[in-house]
Formats: sequence, structure tokens, C-alpha cells
Amino acid sequence: MAKIVFVTGANKGIGFGIAKHLGKSGWQVVIGARDEERAQKAINELKSAGVDVLGWVNLELRNLASIEQAVKEVNEKYPELTLLVNNAGIPGDMSVDSEHTELSDIKETLDVNFIGTFALTKALIPLLTKNQGRIANVTVPSEISPYWHPLAYVASKAAQNAMMGVMAIEFQQSNTPVEVFSVHPGPTTTDLNGNMALPGFHDIETVGEKFAELINDGKNHQGEFIELYPIVKED
Ligand SMILES: NC(=O)c1ccc[n+]([C@@H]2O[C@H](COP(=O)([O-])OP(=O)(O)OC[C@H]3O[C@@H](n4cnc5c(N)ncnc54)[C@H](OP(=O)(O)O)[C@@H]3O)[C@@H](O)[C@H]2O)c1
Repeated sequence: MAKIVFVTGANKGIGFGIAKHLGKSGWQVVIGARDEERAQKAINELKSAGVDVLGWVNLELRNLASIEQAVKEVNEKYPELTLLVNNAGIPGDMSVDSEHTELSDIKETLDVNFIGTFALTKALIPLLTKNQGRIANVTVPSEISPYWHPLAYVASKAAQNAMMGVMAIEFQQSNTPVEVFSVHPGPTTTDLNGNMALPGFHDIETVGEKFAELINDGKNHQGEFIELYPIVKED
């Protein structure tokens, strides 16, 4: 079976790390990006790391016409796609409490992290069904942490997690040969958090490597929420 992956938001951050390490483990990579220059820079870096990059697809998740065009392009150019990684995402305004969160921020964050991500996933299900493929979502847990709870981001990711759970049940009930699961990389130093590097933060190389190991483990992960760094409870 072909090993072709489409990683959204692959021009930098975790998506770049995932594209790089899936590529180094034998996957052919199609990168999703919304700017040609940024896409080209990433492609050059990936190629010099030995990755077989098939090309890039222009994808702006706030824009349904862009999503439609991207899906058309994937179907035409990469009909053997077997893995979609829903990685692209935005943080929303993490500096305010819910009372001071702007509606426009809630809308934009949901638009990218949930509505656009859902629209892309929905439109690629027929191709992934044909190819008995997989959908991996890069996300955070739905449970609300007392220490960190930016409303726009947390709500958008909870919706994305609900999408995964619902689809997994439906695929199982309808015998649709597609696997869908979610992956939490844990705190990772990227632009999304202003390149925060506190103790406990990971780097995109390690996260990309662990993500690739998970994808290549040969196991069925239907409906799972996977912690890349499992929390070890002490007795
Ligand atoms: N960093 C963490 O600690 C952490 C932890 C858990 C989960 N995550 C999740 O990991 C994923 C990647 O985040 P990251 O930390 O790597 O962030 P990042 O470095 O800011 O990268 C985000 C990627 O998403 C793309 N993107 C943003 N808005 C988009 C839009 N409207 N349409 C299409 N693409 C868009 C960006 O493209 P541009 O370069 O064009 O903006 C970029 O490629 C996100 O889903 C995030 O929620 C991150």
C-alpha cells in the first residue's frame, strides 16, 4: 500500500517535525501551507533532510473555497493518499479570561481548529475510505485544566476531539475502513506559544519522531486519544 501523507500546517512547528520524521521513516509527504514562500522554504529543508516531498497544497482553513480547491488537488494529484494529519491550528487569544474573550476570537479559532478542519476531513473521507486510510488529529485534551484554560483554544480543540470520537464510532458502526484518532504532543516549543521553553516543554524534532513511531507501530488506534508523553501516576 502507498504511504502518502498530507500534513496540514506543515511549513513550521509540530507539522514540520511530523512531515520530516514521517518522511525519514519512508512516507512520501504532501505539505499543507497557505503561503508559497513558507511552503517552499519548508520543502527545501525537508528535501535536504532526505524526505521525499511530493509537493505542497495551498490550504487556508478559514476559507471554504480554499479547502474545496485543496481537496480537488489532493484527489487529482495524490489519489493514493493514505494518511491525513490534521495539524494546522491557532491558539486564539490566550491572554484573557473568558469574560474578556472577544466573540471574533472565538469565531476565528473555531473556524480554523474545528470548522475548517472538519470541512477538510469530511471532504477527504471518500478518498481515505477508498484507500483504507487514517486520520490523525493533533490536539489537546478536552478536560479543563485548572492551571491552563484559554476558552477559544480549549473550546475549539474540544470540538475537534468530539469530531474524532463521533467519526470513530460511525466508522466502526458502518464498517467504513478508515481509522481516526487524536494525538496530544504535550507542550512543545513553537510559534503558537511564543516559543516558550519551560521545563517539560518538548521540541518539534522529538515530537515528530515520536509521532512517526506511533503512526508506524502497526496497531489499530481507532477512536483513541493518545498522549505522546503519557502521564505516569505515582502510587
Ligand atoms: N505547541 C504546543 O505546545 C501544542 C500542544 C498541543 C497541541 N498543539 C497543536 O499542534 C498543532 C500545531 O501547532 P504548533 O504549535 O506547531 O503551531 P505553529 O508553529 O504556530 O504552526 C501552526 C501551523 O498551522 C498553520 N495555520 C495556522 N492558521 C492556519 C489557517 N487558517 N489555515 C491553514 N493553516 C494554518 C500555520 O501556517 P502559517 O505559518 O501560514 O501561519 C502553521 O503551519 C496545532 O493544532 C496545535 O493546537 C500544539
